[in-house]
Amino acid sequence: MAFHYISAAEAASHIKHGYNIGLSGFTPAGTAKAVTAELAKIAEAEHAAGRPFQVGIFTGASTGDSCDGVLSRCKAIRYRAPYTTNPDFRKAVNNGEIAYNDIHLSQMAQEVRYGFMGKVNVAILEACEVTPDGKVYLTAAGGIAPTIARLADEVIIELNAAHSKAAMSLHDVYEPLDPPYRRDIPIYKPSDRIGLPYVQVDPKKIVGIVETNWPDEARSFSASDPVTDKIGQNVADFLAADMKRGIIPSTFLPLQSGVGNIANAVLGALGRESSIPPFEMYTEVLQDAVVGLIREGRVKFGSTCSLTVTNNCLNGIYEDIDFFRDKLVLRPSEISNSPEIIRRLGVISINTAIEVDLYGNVNSTHIGGTKMMNGIGGSGDFTRNAYISIFTCPSVAKEGKISAIVPMVSHHDHTEHDVNIVVTEQGVADLRGKGPKERAQAIIENCAHPDYKQLLWDYLKLTDGKSQTPHAIGKALAMHAELAASGDMRNVKW
Ligand code: COA
Repeated sequence: MAFHYISAAEAASHIKHGYNIGLSGFTPAGTAKAVTAELAKIAEAEHAAGRPFQVGIFTGASTGDSCDGVLSRCKAIRYRAPYTTNPDFRKAVNNGEIAYNDIHLSQMAQEVRYGFMGKVNVAILEACEVTPDGKVYLTAAGGIAPTIARLADEVIIELNAAHSKAAMSLHDVYEPLDPPYRRDIPIYKPSDRIGLPYVQVDPKKIVGIVETNWPDEARSFSASDPVTDKIGQNVADFLAADMKRGIIPSTFLPLQSGVGNIANAVLGALGRESSIPPFEMYTEVLQDAVVGLIREGRVKFGSTCSLTVTNNCLNGIYEDIDFFRDKLVLRPSEISNSPEIIRRLGVISINTAIEVDLYGNVNSTHIGGTKMMNGIGGSGDFTRNAYISIFTCPSVAKEGKISAIVPMVSHHDHTEHDVNIVVTEQGVADLRGKGPKERAQAIIENCAHPDYKQLLWDYLKLTDGKSQTPHAIGKALAMHAELAASGDMRNVKW
């Protein structure tokens, strides 16, 4: 079947008001860009003519400015799931303009398949190669591409020359059957490949191919600083000690690490820790630090959903594909984040908290209990099923005006039942094998900033000190209320 090449504008004209569009990609890596940027222009024209124009967006995780940014600025998003990081999207969500459904990333593809979110009208896949019989080779991420490509009525391919064809050898595309027919997912070590290197699309559904040359809109990281370095070192020391005591096998276990500056610094520190043997990653995002560790031989293999790296780093992988081919695999998000596989492999998870409470409950998503930051991402998929689940964060934010250790979290993402270890630059609280009251002691003593320690001890004195989970309910969110009132949690008076 001959390809039909079309412009991004023509492709976008296939998308109508009320449609749900599915996008390839996971983070800005591998996300289709050109058609959504054109869609924003259509939405603007329709709004100017007094007509409604909004779509639903189904994707793997966050996207770049060419999707979440432009479409939220022109108020063209009605509904979106799952994770996002775009500041304009965040503003629109917190302004009540978008129905944002923040679900676990492992569940996205299956919830689309189960029909929970409605029909996928159009799927837009970014590819580095496509064949006339419908083999679509993805770029820097797996995401939910196989599912949306299969379910959509129409498929648009963005053939992006900014991605080398070297990406063709990185993917392992596998889509499980739905219950009651689902079987085990046969991955027994991070490097196992169980699928195909491409997404098979019915060629009759491909409405056109849009040729682009648009690099991934990856963000760069802040250089590590003394606080993130100390957090990284604390994690590395903790893991080395757990290995020495035989809790972690001497061969080590696969690691998952979250997104952001802290995660990047933690991985850097783990790589430098000579008492930890070369290790594998079973994770959803690989950031720059890990690619460096693969080159150095510190990371033996990386299984991930996306290469969320700077473009320099990505091009370096493409140029050295002969080196990376047997050290990297990109998977769909329901496989990279599969609870079944995470638990089977004994993955050690390391994610970032916004705040942690005295009993080990974690808020990863909301500021002040009400405003969405980014979303839960895959942190819940990994935390709940990990061999050891770790949360890291600086002990304070905003020049010390906010304590990350609070009496009660203002929003709840990961419960005390799932969180094993809390790490700040102050130290490590090991919550394993402890009851709630013991956990509170460990968290205040080891993780709270000195400016807040006494305040937190004083809070505990307000409780009965005996209940399973002691709280002074009327005061449990007083530090948050104080922040809202005076801008500084340190002013709280119990
Ligand atoms: N109250 C208010 N603001 C807070 C805060 C708190 N308790 N804790 C952190 N912040 C602010 C920081 O000051 C910073 O603000 P800025 O952007 O204005 O500088 C911002 O939140 C980000 O914090 P930072 O310390 O730079 O960490 P990060 O880049 O690692 O991001 C998360 C932290 C939690 C937002 C991020 O890791 C995330 O989105 N996590 C959820 C998804 C996830 O864990 N996925 C895991 C698998 S990839």
